[in-house]
Amino acid sequence: YTAEIDASDIEKGTYAHYMLKEMDEQPAVIRNIIQHYQNDAGDIELTEGVRSLVSEADRIYIVACGTSYNAGLVGKDILERIAGIPTEVHVSSEFGYNMPLLSSRPLFVFLSQSGETADSRAVLVEVKKRGYKALTMTNVPGSTLSREANETMLLHAGPEIAVASTKAYTAQIAVLAILAYDIARANGKELPFELMPELARVATIMDSIMSQKELFEDLSDRYLKTTPNTFFIGRGLDASVCLEGALKVKEISYIQAEGYPGGELKHGSIALIEDGTPVIALISQPKTNLNIRGNVKEVVARGANACIISMQGVEHENDEFILPHVEPILAPLITVLPVQLMAYYAALARGCDVDKPRNLAKSVTVE
Ligand code: AGP
Repeated sequence: YTAEIDASDIEKGTYAHYMLKEMDEQPAVIRNIIQHYQNDAGDIELTEGVRSLVSEADRIYIVACGTSYNAGLVGKDILERIAGIPTEVHVSSEFGYNMPLLSSRPLFVFLSQSGETADSRAVLVEVKKRGYKALTMTNVPGSTLSREANETMLLHAGPEIAVASTKAYTAQIAVLAILAYDIARANGKELPFELMPELARVATIMDSIMSQKELFEDLSDRYLKTTPNTFFIGRGLDASVCLEGALKVKEISYIQAEGYPGGELKHGSIALIEDGTPVIALISQPKTNLNIRGNVKEVVARGANACIISMQGVEHENDEFILPHVEPILAPLITVLPVQLMAYYAALARGCDVDKPRNLAKSVTVE
Protein backbone atom coordinates (compact mmCIF):
# COMPACT_ATOMS: atom_id res chain seq x y z
CA TYR A 1 0.00 0.00 0.00
CA THR A 2 2.87 2.34 0.81
CA ALA A 3 3.87 1.81 -2.81
CA GLU A 4 0.60 3.52 -3.74
CA ILE A 5 1.08 6.53 -1.46
CA ASP A 6 3.13 9.38 -2.77
CA ALA A 7 3.53 12.94 -1.51
CA SER A 8 0.75 14.28 -3.72
CA ASP A 9 -1.70 11.92 -2.03
CA ILE A 10 -1.20 13.55 1.34
CA GLU A 11 -0.84 17.15 0.21
CA LYS A 12 -3.80 19.37 -0.69
CA GLY A 13 -1.82 20.70 -3.65
CA THR A 14 -3.84 23.44 -5.33
CA TYR A 15 -7.02 22.50 -3.51
CA ALA A 16 -8.51 24.71 -0.82
CA HIS A 17 -9.65 21.66 1.14
CA TYR A 18 -8.91 17.96 1.28
CA MET A 19 -12.63 17.29 0.92
CA LEU A 20 -12.75 19.03 -2.46
CA LYS A 21 -9.62 17.17 -3.61
CA GLU A 22 -11.07 13.85 -2.48
CA MET A 23 -14.43 14.50 -4.17
CA ASP A 24 -12.53 15.26 -7.37
CA GLU A 25 -10.53 12.03 -7.02
CA GLN A 26 -13.65 9.85 -7.16
CA PRO A 27 -13.49 9.14 -10.93
CA ALA A 28 -9.83 8.12 -10.60
CA VAL A 29 -10.68 5.92 -7.63
CA ILE A 30 -13.35 4.08 -9.61
CA ARG A 31 -10.81 3.53 -12.41
CA ASN A 32 -8.28 2.33 -9.83
CA ILE A 33 -10.80 -0.15 -8.45
CA ILE A 34 -11.60 -1.46 -11.93
CA GLN A 35 -7.91 -1.96 -12.54
CA HIS A 36 -7.31 -3.77 -9.26
CA TYR A 37 -10.31 -6.08 -9.49
CA GLN A 38 -10.19 -7.26 -13.07
CA ASN A 39 -7.73 -9.54 -14.83
CA ASP A 40 -6.15 -9.11 -18.26
CA ALA A 41 -9.13 -10.82 -19.86
CA GLY A 42 -11.39 -8.14 -18.36
CA ASP A 43 -13.05 -10.54 -15.93
CA ILE A 44 -13.58 -9.77 -12.26
CA GLU A 45 -10.78 -11.28 -10.22
CA LEU A 46 -11.00 -11.75 -6.45
CA THR A 47 -8.59 -13.75 -4.32
CA GLU A 48 -9.39 -17.41 -3.75
CA GLY A 49 -9.63 -16.58 -0.04
CA VAL A 50 -12.43 -14.08 -0.59
CA ARG A 51 -14.19 -16.34 -3.06
CA SER A 52 -14.22 -19.36 -0.78
CA LEU A 53 -15.29 -17.22 2.20
CA VAL A 54 -18.24 -15.84 0.28
CA SER A 55 -19.21 -19.14 -1.36
CA GLU A 56 -19.92 -20.66 2.07
CA ALA A 57 -22.30 -17.86 3.12
CA ASP A 58 -26.08 -18.13 3.03
CA ARG A 59 -26.64 -14.61 4.42
CA ILE A 60 -24.56 -11.46 4.60
CA TYR A 61 -24.52 -9.08 7.56
CA ILE A 62 -23.00 -5.72 6.66
CA VAL A 63 -21.71 -3.96 9.79
CA ALA A 64 -20.57 -0.33 9.68
CA CYS A 65 -20.95 3.22 10.99
CA GLY A 66 -21.77 6.62 9.52
CA THR A 67 -21.03 7.03 5.85
CA SER A 68 -19.85 3.42 5.63
CA TYR A 69 -23.22 2.31 7.00
CA ASN A 70 -24.90 4.44 4.35
CA ALA A 71 -22.78 2.74 1.68
CA GLY A 72 -23.82 -0.58 3.20
CA LEU A 73 -27.49 0.24 2.61
CA VAL A 74 -26.74 0.60 -1.10
CA GLY A 75 -24.65 -2.57 -0.95
CA LYS A 76 -27.61 -4.50 0.46
CA ASP A 77 -29.75 -3.62 -2.56
CA ILE A 78 -26.97 -4.55 -4.95
CA LEU A 79 -26.12 -7.84 -3.23
CA GLU A 80 -29.75 -8.92 -3.03
CA ARG A 81 -30.75 -7.83 -6.53
CA ILE A 82 -27.59 -8.93 -8.36
CA ALA A 83 -26.31 -11.87 -6.30
CA GLY A 84 -29.62 -12.95 -4.75
CA ILE A 85 -28.01 -13.33 -1.33
CA PRO A 86 -30.10 -12.18 1.65
CA THR A 87 -28.32 -9.20 3.19
CA GLU A 88 -28.86 -7.17 6.34
CA VAL A 89 -27.16 -3.90 7.26
CA HIS A 90 -26.50 -2.98 10.88
CA VAL A 91 -25.05 0.03 12.68
CA SER A 92 -22.06 -1.40 14.52
CA SER A 93 -22.90 0.11 17.91
CA GLU A 94 -26.40 -1.38 17.81
CA PHE A 95 -25.38 -4.85 16.71
CA GLY A 96 -22.71 -5.99 19.10
CA TYR A 97 -25.07 -6.75 21.95
CA ASN A 98 -27.86 -8.64 20.29
CA MET A 99 -26.71 -10.45 17.21
CA PRO A 100 -29.99 -11.85 15.93
CA LEU A 101 -28.69 -14.44 13.55
CA LEU A 102 -31.08 -15.96 11.08
CA SER A 103 -28.67 -18.20 9.32
CA SER A 104 -26.28 -21.04 9.99
CA ARG A 105 -23.58 -19.77 7.63
CA PRO A 106 -23.51 -15.98 7.96
CA LEU A 107 -20.74 -13.86 6.51
CA PHE A 108 -20.03 -10.56 8.26
CA VAL A 109 -18.85 -7.79 5.95
CA PHE A 110 -17.25 -4.87 7.78
CA LEU A 111 -17.16 -1.60 5.87
CA SER A 112 -14.63 0.83 7.28
CA GLN A 113 -12.56 3.48 5.52
CA SER A 114 -10.10 3.68 8.40
CA GLY A 115 -10.27 0.05 9.48
CA GLU A 116 -9.96 1.35 13.06
CA THR A 117 -13.53 2.20 14.12
CA ALA A 118 -13.94 0.85 17.64
CA ASP A 119 -17.70 0.25 17.33
CA SER A 120 -17.09 -1.97 14.32
CA ARG A 121 -14.10 -3.73 15.82
CA ALA A 122 -16.13 -4.60 18.91
CA VAL A 123 -18.55 -6.49 16.68
CA LEU A 124 -15.68 -8.25 14.88
CA VAL A 125 -14.34 -9.47 18.23
CA GLU A 126 -17.79 -10.93 19.05
CA VAL A 127 -18.14 -12.43 15.56
CA LYS A 128 -14.85 -14.27 15.91
CA LYS A 129 -15.70 -15.40 19.44
CA ARG A 130 -18.75 -17.12 17.96
CA GLY A 131 -16.68 -18.75 15.25
CA TYR A 132 -18.20 -16.82 12.35
CA LYS A 133 -16.34 -15.51 9.31
CA ALA A 134 -15.55 -11.88 8.47
CA LEU A 135 -14.60 -9.95 5.37
CA THR A 136 -13.38 -6.37 5.77
CA MET A 137 -13.62 -3.75 3.06
CA THR A 138 -11.25 -0.94 4.00
CA ASN A 139 -9.04 1.77 2.61
CA VAL A 140 -6.18 0.97 4.97
CA PRO A 141 -4.33 -2.34 4.61
CA GLY A 142 -2.82 -3.53 7.85
CA SER A 143 -5.58 -1.77 9.80
CA THR A 144 -7.12 -3.53 12.78
CA LEU A 145 -10.32 -4.52 11.01
CA SER A 146 -8.27 -5.83 8.11
CA ARG A 147 -5.78 -7.78 10.22
CA GLU A 148 -8.46 -9.36 12.40
CA ALA A 149 -10.84 -10.39 9.61
CA ASN A 150 -10.50 -13.61 7.62
CA GLU A 151 -10.17 -11.71 4.35
CA THR A 152 -9.88 -8.12 3.11
CA MET A 153 -10.98 -6.25 -0.02
CA LEU A 154 -9.19 -2.91 -0.35
CA LEU A 155 -10.91 0.26 -1.53
CA HIS A 156 -7.78 1.54 -3.38
CA ALA A 157 -9.07 5.09 -2.80
CA GLY A 158 -5.81 6.61 -1.59
CA PRO A 159 -5.61 8.42 1.76
CA GLU A 160 -8.85 10.10 2.80
CA ILE A 161 -7.88 13.03 5.02
CA ALA A 162 -11.07 15.09 5.30
CA VAL A 163 -13.25 14.07 8.23
CA ALA A 164 -16.26 13.98 5.91
CA SER A 165 -15.96 10.79 3.93
CA THR A 166 -16.65 11.08 0.20
CA LYS A 167 -14.45 8.94 -2.06
CA ALA A 168 -14.56 6.06 0.43
CA TYR A 169 -18.38 6.03 0.12
CA THR A 170 -18.35 5.66 -3.66
CA ALA A 171 -15.40 3.26 -3.48
CA GLN A 172 -17.26 1.02 -1.02
CA ILE A 173 -20.30 0.90 -3.30
CA ALA A 174 -18.13 0.00 -6.30
CA VAL A 175 -16.32 -2.77 -4.40
CA LEU A 176 -19.63 -4.11 -3.04
CA ALA A 177 -20.94 -4.21 -6.62
CA ILE A 178 -17.86 -6.16 -7.70
CA LEU A 179 -18.40 -8.64 -4.89
CA ALA A 180 -22.08 -9.01 -5.82
CA TYR A 181 -21.19 -9.63 -9.46
CA ASP A 182 -18.59 -12.23 -8.51
CA ILE A 183 -21.12 -14.09 -6.36
CA ALA A 184 -23.69 -13.93 -9.16
CA ARG A 185 -21.16 -15.25 -11.69
CA ALA A 186 -20.15 -18.10 -9.36
CA ASN A 187 -23.83 -19.03 -8.98
CA GLY A 188 -24.50 -18.82 -12.74
CA LYS A 189 -26.99 -16.01 -12.26
CA GLU A 190 -28.21 -13.88 -15.16
CA LEU A 191 -26.43 -10.48 -15.08
CA PRO A 192 -28.36 -7.36 -16.13
CA PHE A 193 -25.29 -5.64 -17.62
CA GLU A 194 -21.48 -5.89 -17.77
CA LEU A 195 -20.27 -4.27 -14.56
CA MET A 196 -16.73 -3.12 -15.36
CA PRO A 197 -17.60 -1.23 -18.56
CA GLU A 198 -20.53 0.41 -16.72
CA LEU A 199 -18.24 1.40 -13.85
CA ALA A 200 -15.88 2.94 -16.41
CA ARG A 201 -18.83 4.89 -17.82
CA VAL A 202 -19.75 5.97 -14.28
CA ALA A 203 -16.22 7.35 -13.83
CA THR A 204 -16.55 9.40 -17.01
CA ILE A 205 -19.92 10.76 -15.90
CA MET A 206 -18.43 11.56 -12.49
CA ASP A 207 -15.79 13.63 -14.28
CA SER A 208 -18.48 15.57 -16.14
CA ILE A 209 -20.47 16.26 -12.95
CA MET A 210 -17.38 17.39 -11.03
CA SER A 211 -16.51 19.74 -13.90
CA GLN A 212 -19.84 21.56 -13.30
CA LYS A 213 -19.32 22.09 -9.58
CA GLU A 214 -20.20 25.77 -9.78
CA LEU A 215 -23.79 24.76 -10.63
CA PHE A 216 -23.98 22.96 -7.28
CA GLU A 217 -22.49 25.95 -5.49
CA ASP A 218 -25.39 27.91 -6.94
CA LEU A 219 -27.92 25.28 -5.80
CA SER A 220 -26.31 25.24 -2.37
CA ASP A 221 -26.54 29.04 -2.13
CA ARG A 222 -30.18 28.97 -3.16
CA TYR A 223 -31.35 26.10 -0.95
CA LEU A 224 -28.93 25.56 1.95
CA LYS A 225 -26.86 28.68 2.68
CA THR A 226 -29.15 30.32 5.24
CA THR A 227 -31.60 27.60 6.24
CA PRO A 228 -31.71 26.17 9.79
CA ASN A 229 -32.94 22.82 8.53
CA THR A 230 -33.50 20.76 5.42
CA PHE A 231 -34.84 17.41 4.18
CA PHE A 232 -33.41 15.05 1.59
CA ILE A 233 -36.15 12.77 0.24
CA GLY A 234 -36.11 9.81 -2.09
CA ARG A 235 -37.35 6.27 -2.45
CA GLY A 236 -35.47 2.98 -2.61
CA LEU A 237 -31.80 3.49 -3.49
CA ASP A 238 -32.38 7.24 -3.62
CA ALA A 239 -33.58 7.15 0.02
CA SER A 240 -30.27 5.54 1.01
CA VAL A 241 -28.32 8.31 -0.73
CA CYS A 242 -30.55 10.86 1.04
CA LEU A 243 -29.24 9.55 4.36
CA GLU A 244 -25.68 10.17 3.14
CA GLY A 245 -26.60 13.64 1.87
CA ALA A 246 -28.12 14.54 5.22
CA LEU A 247 -25.05 13.25 7.08
CA LYS A 248 -22.70 15.31 4.90
CA VAL A 249 -24.76 18.47 5.43
CA LYS A 250 -25.02 17.89 9.19
CA GLU A 251 -21.40 17.09 9.83
CA ILE A 252 -19.76 19.93 7.92
CA SER A 253 -22.31 22.76 7.70
CA TYR A 254 -24.12 22.05 11.02
CA ILE A 255 -27.55 22.40 9.38
CA GLN A 256 -30.18 20.10 10.93
CA ALA A 257 -30.78 17.73 7.98
CA GLU A 258 -32.89 14.62 7.63
CA GLY A 259 -32.69 11.95 4.96
CA TYR A 260 -36.19 10.53 4.61
CA PRO A 261 -38.06 7.96 2.53
CA GLY A 262 -40.49 10.12 0.55
CA GLY A 263 -43.48 7.91 1.25
CA GLU A 264 -42.94 8.04 4.99
CA LEU A 265 -43.08 11.83 5.40
CA LYS A 266 -46.87 11.88 5.68
CA HIS A 267 -46.66 9.63 8.74
CA GLY A 268 -45.45 12.47 10.96
CA SER A 269 -42.34 14.29 9.86
CA ILE A 270 -44.19 16.36 7.26
CA ALA A 271 -45.36 18.41 10.26
CA LEU A 272 -41.88 19.98 10.18
CA ILE A 273 -42.39 21.42 6.70
CA GLU A 274 -42.90 25.16 6.87
CA ASP A 275 -42.97 27.96 4.37
CA GLY A 276 -39.62 27.88 2.60
CA THR A 277 -38.26 24.67 4.15
CA PRO A 278 -35.74 23.36 1.61
CA VAL A 279 -36.49 19.81 0.46
CA ILE A 280 -33.95 18.21 -1.86
CA ALA A 281 -35.39 15.27 -3.79
CA LEU A 282 -33.18 12.66 -5.47
CA ILE A 283 -34.94 10.86 -8.31
CA SER A 284 -33.06 8.22 -10.29
CA GLN A 285 -35.16 5.06 -10.01
CA PRO A 286 -37.79 4.42 -12.73
CA LYS A 287 -39.84 2.23 -10.39
CA THR A 288 -40.42 5.02 -7.88
CA ASN A 289 -40.32 8.10 -10.10
CA LEU A 290 -44.03 8.91 -10.04
CA ASN A 291 -44.42 8.17 -6.31
CA ILE A 292 -41.54 10.37 -5.20
CA ARG A 293 -42.77 13.19 -7.46
CA GLY A 294 -46.10 12.86 -5.67
CA ASN A 295 -44.25 13.26 -2.36
CA VAL A 296 -42.54 16.40 -3.68
CA LYS A 297 -45.96 17.83 -4.52
CA GLU A 298 -47.13 17.05 -0.96
CA VAL A 299 -44.30 19.05 0.62
CA VAL A 300 -44.55 21.90 -1.89
CA ALA A 301 -48.28 22.15 -1.08
CA ARG A 302 -47.18 22.81 2.51
CA GLY A 303 -44.73 25.55 1.55
CA ALA A 304 -41.52 23.61 0.94
CA ASN A 305 -38.87 24.97 -1.41
CA ALA A 306 -38.23 21.83 -3.48
CA CYS A 307 -35.02 21.12 -5.36
CA ILE A 308 -35.30 18.06 -7.63
CA ILE A 309 -32.09 16.40 -8.77
CA SER A 310 -33.06 13.69 -11.24
CA MET A 311 -31.50 11.41 -13.82
CA GLN A 312 -32.06 11.09 -17.56
CA GLY A 313 -34.80 8.59 -18.11
CA VAL A 314 -36.94 9.87 -15.24
CA GLU A 315 -36.40 13.58 -15.67
CA HIS A 316 -38.88 16.44 -15.98
CA GLU A 317 -37.77 19.57 -17.78
CA ASN A 318 -38.18 21.79 -14.70
CA ASP A 319 -35.95 19.63 -12.46
CA GLU A 320 -33.11 21.70 -11.03
CA PHE A 321 -30.41 19.35 -12.32
CA ILE A 322 -30.63 16.30 -14.57
CA LEU A 323 -27.80 13.78 -14.21
CA PRO A 324 -26.65 11.62 -17.12
CA HIS A 325 -28.17 8.13 -17.13
CA VAL A 326 -26.42 5.15 -15.56
CA GLU A 327 -27.75 1.69 -14.72
CA PRO A 328 -30.27 2.47 -11.95
CA ILE A 329 -28.65 0.06 -9.48
CA LEU A 330 -25.39 2.06 -9.73
CA ALA A 331 -27.14 5.45 -9.62
CA PRO A 332 -25.95 6.18 -6.04
CA LEU A 333 -22.42 6.55 -7.44
CA ILE A 334 -23.73 9.54 -9.41
CA THR A 335 -26.56 10.96 -7.31
CA VAL A 336 -24.28 11.32 -4.27
CA LEU A 337 -21.99 13.80 -6.04
CA PRO A 338 -24.46 16.72 -6.06
CA VAL A 339 -25.24 16.23 -2.37
CA GLN A 340 -21.56 15.98 -1.45
CA LEU A 341 -20.90 19.22 -3.36
CA MET A 342 -23.93 21.05 -1.96
CA ALA A 343 -22.85 20.14 1.58
CA TYR A 344 -19.31 21.35 0.84
CA TYR A 345 -20.44 24.71 -0.52
CA ALA A 346 -22.97 25.19 2.30
CA ALA A 347 -20.17 24.65 4.84
CA LEU A 348 -17.96 27.16 3.01
CA ALA A 349 -20.77 29.74 2.81
CA ARG A 350 -21.42 29.33 6.53
CA GLY A 351 -17.76 29.73 7.46
CA CYS A 352 -17.41 26.21 8.81
CA ASP A 353 -14.15 24.26 8.98
CA VAL A 354 -14.77 21.90 6.08
CA ASP A 355 -11.95 19.42 6.67
CA LYS A 356 -12.07 19.45 10.47
CA PRO A 357 -15.68 19.99 11.56
CA ARG A 358 -16.38 20.62 15.25
CA ASN A 359 -16.84 17.65 17.63
CA LEU A 360 -15.66 15.11 15.04
CA ALA A 361 -12.62 12.90 14.46
CA LYS A 362 -11.65 11.20 11.24
CA SER A 363 -11.54 7.79 12.85
CA VAL A 364 -13.68 7.13 15.93
CA THR A 365 -11.48 4.78 17.91
CA VAL A 366 -13.61 4.96 21.06
CA GLU A 367 -16.88 3.10 21.61
C1 AGP B 1 -18.48 10.22 7.54
O1 AGP B 1 -18.39 11.41 6.78
C2 AGP B 1 -17.94 10.38 8.93
N1 AGP B 1 -16.63 10.87 8.95
C3 AGP B 1 -18.14 9.13 9.78
O2 AGP B 1 -19.53 8.90 9.82
C4 AGP B 1 -17.45 7.84 9.28
O3 AGP B 1 -18.04 7.40 8.08
C5 AGP B 1 -17.66 6.76 10.35
O4 AGP B 1 -17.05 7.19 11.55
C6 AGP B 1 -17.10 5.40 9.94
O5 AGP B 1 -15.72 5.50 9.75
P1 AGP B 1 -14.96 4.26 9.06
O6 AGP B 1 -15.52 4.10 7.69
O7 AGP B 1 -13.51 4.64 9.06
O8 AGP B 1 -15.24 3.03 9.91
